[in-house]
Amino acid sequence: MKMWAGRFSKEENKEVNDFNSSIRVDSRMYKEDITGSMAHAFMLGKCGIISNEDSELIINTLDSILTDLENGNLEIDPEAEDIHMFVEEVLTNRIGAVGKKLHTARSRNDQVALDFRMYTKKEILEIKGLVKSLIETIIYISKQNIDLIMPGYTHLQRAQPILLSHQLLAYANMLIRDLGRLDDTYKRCDYMPLGSAALAGTTHNIDRFIVKEKLGFKNVTLNSIDSVSDRDFAVELANAISLIMMHLSRFSEEIILWCSWEFKFMELDDSYATGSSIMPQKKNPDITELIRGKTGRTYGNLIALLTMLKGIPLAYNKDMQEDKELLFDSIDTVKECLSIFIPMLKTATFLKDNMYNAAKKGFINATDLADYLAKKGMPFRDAYKLTGTIVKDAIKDNLTLDEIKLEKYKEYSELIDSDIYHEIDLRNCVDKRLSFGGTSKEMVLKQIELLTNELGK
Ligand code: ARG
Repeated sequence: MKMWAGRFSKEENKEVNDFNSSIRVDSRMYKEDITGSMAHAFMLGKCGIISNEDSELIINTLDSILTDLENGNLEIDPEAEDIHMFVEEVLTNRIGAVGKKLHTARSRNDQVALDFRMYTKKEILEIKGLVKSLIETIIYISKQNIDLIMPGYTHLQRAQPILLSHQLLAYANMLIRDLGRLDDTYKRCDYMPLGSAALAGTTHNIDRFIVKEKLGFKNVTLNSIDSVSDRDFAVELANAISLIMMHLSRFSEEIILWCSWEFKFMELDDSYATGSSIMPQKKNPDITELIRGKTGRTYGNLIALLTMLKGIPLAYNKDMQEDKELLFDSIDTVKECLSIFIPMLKTATFLKDNMYNAAKKGFINATDLADYLAKKGMPFRDAYKLTGTIVKDAIKDNLTLDEIKLEKYKEYSELIDSDIYHEIDLRNCVDKRLSFGGTSKEMVLKQIELLTNELGK
């Protein structure tokens, strides 16, 4: 029989109950629900709303329910309406009338708002841990491979020589911003909503600050209507997760390209690649493709959340029950993806020679030739044009810029001397880019130092 059966005179309808039920999704918040209820019962006792004995009995019984759930002595009833109803029902079954006092000065509306925030806070910390570990992995690999030169691309055309570490650290920078977004979301989750009751607050003489302290929240929410209606924090986390996934997806796309025979810049460890059922030669980067594919579902969850919220009037509406399934899916997805991406990256090998050889082709030192002429006094636009001509001729003669003879260079411009060869040497092209944030080894090492400091904060 339903807890709210008193108001109704007809039998329950199984189909309606199933449709209404959220236990399949929200049972994962059992711990938050129980600890939240313990804090509420503690406060009710402290404020003299229920007796100290009743408060203690409720708290101890909730504690035993938690233990029983954790070690498998109690199973969550899949027929229950939601986790809040389930816990209260078990409590009442165990201690009778006293258990029925727990819901004094509380509604499921503020209860679910509390549980959801507590759960979200916990998950943010876990996701942060994984993102940090990925950044550390990138930093580690960047240090290990600090001398590897590869072509940098724009439009997927070879553009200028860069350090592999510089390219990898670009992702570390994105992930640092992701950490910032997670921190920010956490701050806004850190408001305790319990005591708002259904929507208007309560006539009982409660102390919300006691609950806040007990549950380790930083603040108490200010408006009871907003407290039970606000799901901004869920949208914010879904957004932060979408961005992490977008970054992972771009990185994945790059790895997919780099593992192809066309690039062959890297090779995944056998344990993080898969074969084909028909083509014996295949070694496929399935993990990265799945991450790229799963990114879409996190965007879907974000849009679904925003759309669900946009038309509902204040305060609580049942539409909001949809919030958890969406956010939980995003949380599970990002954690799963990060957890597999990290060891996959750590065990991958970068193929130094292939990268370097690719960098040698494609005239990626042409900017350096133009800069050389400009530094010798030729206006940059003229230098740019002349370099274009030199490249055009070199393509025709099947030469790279360092293979052109000095006499030939002199025909283009008297400004060119034998120092040109040093100037367009790939290593030197990289090391000259000393502008702050540039690709020179010196700057990349500086970047690693600053990122490491940032991570330690
Ligand atoms: N299972 C519900 C949810 O997740 C709990 C809140 C129910 N409140 C209500 N007034 N029906 O949203």
